[in-house]
Amino acid sequence: MSRRGGGGVAGCQRTPAEPRGAAARFEGVANLGIIGRTAALEQWKAVRGEAAGCKRCPLYANATQTVFGEGPRGAHTMLVGEQPGDKEDIAGKPFVGPAGRILDRALADAGIARDDTYVTNAVKHFKNEPQGKRRIHKKPNVAEIEQCRWWLEHEIRIVKPALIVALGATAARTLLRRNAAIQKERGKAEIGADVVPVFITIHPSALLRLRDHAEREREYRRFVADLTAAKRFLMKKAA
Ligand code: URA
Repeated sequence: MSRRGGGGVAGCQRTPAEPRGAAARFEGVANLGIIGRTAALEQWKAVRGEAAGCKRCPLYANATQTVFGEGPRGAHTMLVGEQPGDKEDIAGKPFVGPAGRILDRALADAGIARDDTYVTNAVKHFKNEPQGKRRIHKKPNVAEIEQCRWWLEHEIRIVKPALIVALGATAARTLLRRNAAIQKERGKAEIGADVVPVFITIHPSALLRLRDHAEREREYRRFVADLTAAKRFLMKKAA
């Protein structure tokens, strides 16, 4: 990966066991150069501005705002979730609610700095059904996912990640253009529709649904192990 330059640590914190040469190539976000970085930022702002007014599918009507991805252009890793939840819809930022807190903890435990990754969703509006004072999350359908792919493709083109981590079935379907059996396929990477390796794992909200404490802890550790394997995959790719 020649575009990876030197610099500060980008998501992959070096451990003594990791080879210096490979690790060095992961330090810093992609070395796009000053002109490349400025151009990418301008493109990203323009696309985010267009997405703010998106009416490509009906989901905008029931949401507060478009929740676009965030993170550095040139981030080595892009994390893709399903869609913003209630908290994200209000904040206008991805993964800032309960699932985001689990994701943050798991990334830290895997030695990945969230700030050095680009975090986004397959679908940019919160699909929900009002029920009294609450808004109940609803799964996006295939047509909604397909319409929203437009924005994700722009993000991938601008950010140029070396690896995309699909968090759960909706993200995996979007990125691989097929249904994935998450439990069977997790912990592995394959080339996705955008010609970038896609690493499959669970969605962190799956952990929130587990009532049994021991099971939740066990599954959390598996999630961290998947993220650690994704990091290792990147290190190997750079070696
Ligand atoms: N779940 C997601 O898939 N994305 C978010 O941003 C929050 C929760």
